[in-house]
Amino acid sequence: MRSHFNSRLGFIMAAAGSAIGLGNIWKFPFEVGESGGAAFIIVYLFFCFVLCFPILVSEIAIGRRAQRNAFGAFKVLGFPRWAVIGLLQVVVSLFILSFYNVVAGWSFGYFIEMLIGNFAIGEQFPQYVQNVPRIMVYSLLFMVVTGYIVAQGVSAGIEKYTKLLMPILILIILGLAGYALTLPGAKAGLTFYLVPDVSKITLDVIYNALGHAFFSLSLGLGGLMTYGSYLDQKANILSSAVAVTFMDVMIAFMAGFMLFPFVFSQGIATEGGVGLVFMALPKVFASLGSVWGIIIGGLFFLLLSFAALTSTVSILEVSVAYLRDEHRFSRVTAVVVSATVIFLLGIPSLLANGSSEFFTNFMNYGGVSVDFMTFISDLSSNTFLPLAGLLISLFVGYIWRPDQLIKELSSDGYQTIPIWVAVYLKIALRYICPVILSLIFLFTVLEKFFGVQVIG
Ligand code: PHE
Repeated sequence: MRSHFNSRLGFIMAAAGSAIGLGNIWKFPFEVGESGGAAFIIVYLFFCFVLCFPILVSEIAIGRRAQRNAFGAFKVLGFPRWAVIGLLQVVVSLFILSFYNVVAGWSFGYFIEMLIGNFAIGEQFPQYVQNVPRIMVYSLLFMVVTGYIVAQGVSAGIEKYTKLLMPILILIILGLAGYALTLPGAKAGLTFYLVPDVSKITLDVIYNALGHAFFSLSLGLGGLMTYGSYLDQKANILSSAVAVTFMDVMIAFMAGFMLFPFVFSQGIATEGGVGLVFMALPKVFASLGSVWGIIIGGLFFLLLSFAALTSTVSILEVSVAYLRDEHRFSRVTAVVVSATVIFLLGIPSLLANGSSEFFTNFMNYGGVSVDFMTFISDLSSNTFLPLAGLLISLFVGYIWRPDQLIKELSSDGYQTIPIWVAVYLKIALRYICPVILSLIFLFTVLEKFFGVQVIG
C-alpha cells in the first residue's frame, strides 16, 4: 500500500516547506532589488496567482488521482506518451537539486561561522566559495541530512520533520523582520524595496519573474505531483493549494521586510546577486555587537538552512518515488542512488565560483559570460520549469481534460468547487497558460540562444 500523509496539516506543511526555500529568502529579495522593486513584485504576483496557480493545482491533482510518481502518473492515467513530461521533471529535479544543495551547504556553513562570531566571512565570501574541501563537506552533510529524512518515509520522515521545521521557520522570520523594522535604515530599505520603478520592467525581468514564480512554487519538477500522490481521496486539494501559494508569497514578502532594513541600516548599497545575503548581511550582524550579532546572525542562517532543507527533501523525493515505483528500488536504496548521483552532478557547481576556470567562465549565455551554476540554475528554472508547466497545462487542458481535473478537485463530489473557480481553471489551462508560456518561451529561446532581441 502506498504511504500517505497523516493529516491535512502535514501535507500543507510539506508542500509549503517545499515551496518556501532559498528562493524566497535568498533569491526573491535580490531579484526585487535588481528588477524594479514593487513593479517586479506585481509582475511576480500576477504570474503566481494567474498563471502558476492552475498548474500547481493540476500537479497535485494528477499525483493524487494516479497515486504514482511524476513519471508513472501519466501512464496510470492512460497517456503513456505524455510520461515524457514526467521524465523531463525527474531529470530537471536532479539538476536543480545538484546546485541547490551547494547553496544550502553554504547557508549551513554560514550558520556555523555566525555561531563562532566570524562576521568577517562576508568579506571573505569569494575565498569561502573557493575553499572546495570545506564547501564540499557542507554540501555533503546537507545531502546526508536530506537523505536521512527522505529515507524515513512519507509520514515518519517528510511529514514529521516539515511539521516541526516550518513553524520554527515562520517564527524566526517574523521575529527577524520585526527586529529589522526597528533599525534606523528601515525606512530607506522599505522605500527601495517597495517603490515601483516601471522603467526596469524589460523582457528579461518578465522572464525572471516567471521563472522565479515557477521555482518558488516548486512547479514543473514533479515535487508537488509526487507529494500529491501521497494524498488520500478526502484531502481538499484546492484549499491546500491556496494555503501553500499564500504562504509562499507571504514568506518571500517578509524576507524583503527583513533583508532591506538590515542592509540599509548599514548604508550598504544593495549588492545584486548572491552578495545580498552572503556578503552584505554578515557586516550587518557584526554591527549589532558580538552577542546580538551571534544571536541574530545565527538565527538568520539557521532559518535559511531550514528553509532549504524542507525544499531539498521534496526535490529528492521526486527521483526516490520514481525509482521506487518504476524500478522497484527499496526506499533506502533509492535514496542512496539518487543522492549520490545528485551530489556528483553538483561538483561542477561547487567549482563554479572561481576554483575552476572552466566552470567559472562556463559559457556565453544571452550575451554574458556565466559560470556553470548560474547557467544551470537559469536554464532549469527559467526554461525547463516553465516548459514543463506549458506541457502540463496542455495535458490537462486538452488531453486529460479540465472536467477530470474538476472531478478530482471535488474528490468525486466530496467537496464542492465554486463554479467560477472551475471556469477559471479551465480557461487558464486551455488558453491563458499555453499562450503566455509559449510566447515567453519562444522569445527567451530566441534571445538567449540566438541573440535575437524580440522586445526592448
Ligand atoms: N521552491 C523552492 C525555493 O523557493 C525550490 C524548489 C524548486 C523546491 C523546485 C522544489 C522544487 O527555494
